[in-house]
Order: sequence, then structure tokens, then C-alpha cells
Amino acid sequence: NWNAEEFAKETIEAIKEQIGDGKAICALSGGVDSSVSAVLVHKAIGSNLTCIFVDHGLMRKDEGDQVEEIFKNTFDMNLIRVNAQERFLGKLAGVKDPEQKRKIIGEEFIRVFEEEKAKIGKIDFLVQGTIYPDIVESMTDSGEVIKSHHNVGGLPEDVDFELVEPVKALYKYEVREVGRVLGIADKLVDRQPFPGPGLGVRVVGDITKEKLDILREADWIFREEIEAAGLNKEIWQYFATILDIKSVGMTNEKRTYGYPVVLRAIYTKDAMTAEFAKIPHELLDKIAKRIVHEVEEINRVLYDVTSKPPATIEFE
Ligand code: XMP
Repeated sequence: NWNAEEFAKETIEAIKEQIGDGKAICALSGGVDSSVSAVLVHKAIGSNLTCIFVDHGLMRKDEGDQVEEIFKNTFDMNLIRVNAQERFLGKLAGVKDPEQKRKIIGEEFIRVFEEEKAKIGKIDFLVQGTIYPDIVESMTDSGEVIKSHHNVGGLPEDVDFELVEPVKALYKYEVREVGRVLGIADKLVDRQPFPGPGLGVRVVGDITKEKLDILREADWIFREEIEAAGLNKEIWQYFATILDIKSVGMTNEKRTYGYPVVLRAIYTKDAMTAEFAKIPHELLDKIAKRIVHEVEEINRVLYDVTSKPPATIEFE
């Protein structure tokens, strides 16, 4: 019988053993997985851990500032925030293929770490928030890649640090239990999962600053309404995705030609399979009206009624 408290205790000991007096850096993204991993390692080696928060410009609205605030003030960790927005957007310019986008984001992530590592001095370990479904879903039985998760197998061959992946055997709900045991605030522990490549996989097709900004606004409204309705307890993940097509609409008797956003909300236990959330139509109506009213560039709001499988949770 699995026990979160035992797991935390044993894992902290195992990390102490693995890292010893070595120095580690952590890929902190503000998500549950990397946060719990960071706190486990922090408890094991204290200030020998430096957390690197790469702001790749693919975060949700205001998220970057929240991450900085929580880990600097609440947990008193060594935290370096790298503002790499332009760098990522430059690399991603014109790239439409989902796998290529994921690969670029993952590799760029690692490169940024290498640079930070060089600035800090000798670093021997890299902490990552890989969880069990990341590993399973990256491969089919025949070894075929379905989606490459940026934290699995995405390491360039020339890195010279060892990986520490404290929660790689756990499902998301187990990671949350460990988080609670570690005393991480519910607000963070209950936060919905957010993919490593961030909004990069929620801008279908090529990624531009314009689309990212539009998506951030729509996504914010959707999340705000779901939370206001108290549905965030039962819905596991809820977010917006922007498509790379435009369609015709009409505002104040004038023709518009804007982007559609797709709202996705799902029930699941472990993200391996999922069912679309049965949000009341009245609420969908209210959300759609707010989005088209408050986000000028959007003239159409779609709701995804597909389960997983055959669809995946993310669009890319
Ligand atoms: P899919 O789209 O594969 O998503 O059904 C399953 C769950 O994983 C999240 N996800 C990721 N998490 N790195 C992550 O850490 C990634 O590259 C990644 N891609 C998808 C997704 O949000 C969902 O919760």
C-alpha cells in the first residue's frame, strides 16, 4: 500500500544519497510536478539546490510573476528567473509541426540550463519533474513515439549532468499527495497540470506573440469563470487553445475575420484517458460571450466534446 509520507521520507533520503555534497539545479516551471520535485530536493540538500525558472514566454497570464513570488518568498529557495521569451519565439518562428515545436522548446530549455549552470559554477545534477504518464505516453509498445514530452528523452547528448527525477514513478494524484505531505500550499498542489512546452502546444500551427497574447486572455476568462462556478474541483484540466485558421464573423454590423479558440475541459484520474467535462450550456454561453466581447481578435468560441482516446488532452 503506497503511502505519501513514507514516499517523501524515503525519497529525500535517496536524493541525499544520490547527490551527496554535489550541486543541483532544478527545472522549476511552477507546475505541480516540478514544484514537488524541487521541494523534495530542497529538503534533501538545502541551498545546494538552485532553481532555474525559465520564462519562455509560453506561460499563462501573470504566471511568471506568481512562480517567482511563491518560491522566493514562501520556500526561500535559490531561484533564478531567466527571461528568455524572445529567444524562444525566435527559434519557434515559422515552425508549424507539433513534434518539431516540442523538440525546439525542450532543447532550448536545456541550453538555457547549460548557460545558467556555467554562470553558477560546478553543477552535477539536473532535477526534473517527470511523472509516470510522461514516460508511458512517450512510447507505444512497439517503441513508436506518440508525443515527445519535453522532459523525457529530450536531453541533447552533450550535457554533462546527471538527472534527478524524484516523482517519475508517480501518477499526478500521488504527486499531489506528496506535495501536501511536504506542506506545499493547497493553492499550488491543486493547481491544474500545465504541459512543459506550455502554451506552445496550445497555439496550433506557428507560434506568434500576437496569438499567445490573444490565447492568454481567452484562457484567463475561461479559467476565471470555471473557478467562479466552483467547477474547478471536479474538472481536472480546463484551458483554451487557439487555432491557426481564421473565420468570418460580425460585430456591430461589421464583418470580422478572426481566430477561433477552442475550450477544452476534461475529467480524468491520471491523464491516460479522459472524458470531456459536461459544463452547463448556460455557463458556456456566458464564457463565450465574455471572450468575444473582451478579446477583440476572437470571433468564435468552440467547445471540444472529444474524449481521450481518440483525442489527446492537448491539441499538439
Ligand atoms: P495529452 O495531450 O498527451 O496530455 O493527452 C496528457 C497530460 O500531459 C500534459 N502534457 C505534458 N506534460 N510535458 C508535460 O510535463 C509535456 O510535454 C506535456 N504534454 C502534455 C497535458 O497537459 C495533460 O495533462
